[in-house]
Amino acid sequence: MINVLFVCLGNICRSPLAEAMFKFKLQESNLEGRIACDSAGTANYHVGDLPDSRTIEVAERHGIPINHRGRQFHREDGDGFDYLLAMDNSNYQNMVSEMGEESSHLYLMRHFDAMEKDTDVPDPYYGSGDGFERVYQILDRSLDEFMAFVKKEHGFS
Ligand code: 4NP
Repeated sequence: MINVLFVCLGNICRSPLAEAMFKFKLQESNLEGRIACDSAGTANYHVGDLPDSRTIEVAERHGIPINHRGRQFHREDGDGFDYLLAMDNSNYQNMVSEMGEESSHLYLMRHFDAMEKDTDVPDPYYGSGDGFERVYQILDRSLDEFMAFVKKEHGFS
């Protein structure tokens, strides 16, 4: 099994949405037996919490089931996952600090966004509901590209 971890700050907005969307895409592609995913936050503010109500709303609007409880990113996750996807540059730096070193399997989520590469998935927490739809659109295209990358790396058709 190939294991993927999506990471943001609070683990209630961006990364649980990425996890839910990627699970849905894996099912659509019949890859759920080969690739698994989870999500975590670099902060501990929302450990045990359900995703933000606005995250649940945008997922449901797009027909994506979402079910996650907040958990914090820990050093051991660096070794336990084949791909680590940071939602923004701050998450990326926090992960490097927690792991104690750079990791060859740590990427920015928008490394895989052909429209605007290597920038942040914007934190929608303090904004309006529009921010969540924008995050959805960014994740939708970035996750497709990421899945193509993983399939190519592992020789999946
Ligand atoms: P996330 O958004 O990192 O996408 O889950 C946030 C959630 C909570 C907070 C900040 C960002 N917070 O400050 O509690």
